[in-house]
Amino acid sequence: MKIFIDTADVEEIKRLNDIGIIDGVTTNPSLIAKEGRNFEQVVKEITEIVDGPISAEAVSLDAEGMIKEGKELSKIHKNIIIKVPMTSEGIKAVKVLEAEGIKCNVTLTFSANQAILAAKAGASFVSPFVGRLDDIGEKGMDVIKEIVEIYKNYNFKTEIIVASVRNLEHVKESGMLGAHIATIPPKLINEMFKHELTDKGIKKFLEDWEKVKDK
Ligand code: G3P
Repeated sequence: MKIFIDTADVEEIKRLNDIGIIDGVTTNPSLIAKEGRNFEQVVKEITEIVDGPISAEAVSLDAEGMIKEGKELSKIHKNIIIKVPMTSEGIKAVKVLEAEGIKCNVTLTFSANQAILAAKAGASFVSPFVGRLDDIGEKGMDVIKEIVEIYKNYNFKTEIIVASVRNLEHVKESGMLGAHIATIPPKLINEMFKHELTDKGIKKFLEDWEKVKDK
């Protein structure tokens, strides 16, 4: 299971990448806006930190515009993945960009049928948003289960990025269902390290060590 970090916060990316558990990065216009910095500059800095797929989003609504943006963004670094929205224009752009060797991530995907279309277009990645499905009373992880099964049936090569991850259950279930990747906000990655028994155990081992270390 690969872990991508879902943020445009360069310091957090650096810190978690240094630990050695980050396989890639996803950004989107909202995450970039949160940082209040120049989009291309942020993306460039990220490519200098993480050696793995870095998703940068195209904001045009028509295929022609997305293709143009995709070609420009892909010049920043070989690891750049173009995020395009799950629309007919987006799928059209994916087909063209992938044929030219520019990898795409179909974002804002909310159903298994949409994921079939992304795979048919040859997208390298598809991003179903589980948290936003939970928000409207559906079970986001059910959609992941469906997509994993369908992709297995046809040996589709598109990798599933579980996105809009909001809690540790989403992360664990992603692994249990066999999704290729979960893209996780830094706050949640930090939580993944923690268990009260780990802290308690370390404390006890150190206390016991103090008793015998000079013997
Ligand atoms: O990975 C997609 C993510 O950035 C969207 O998350 O929490 O805004 O639904 P959220």
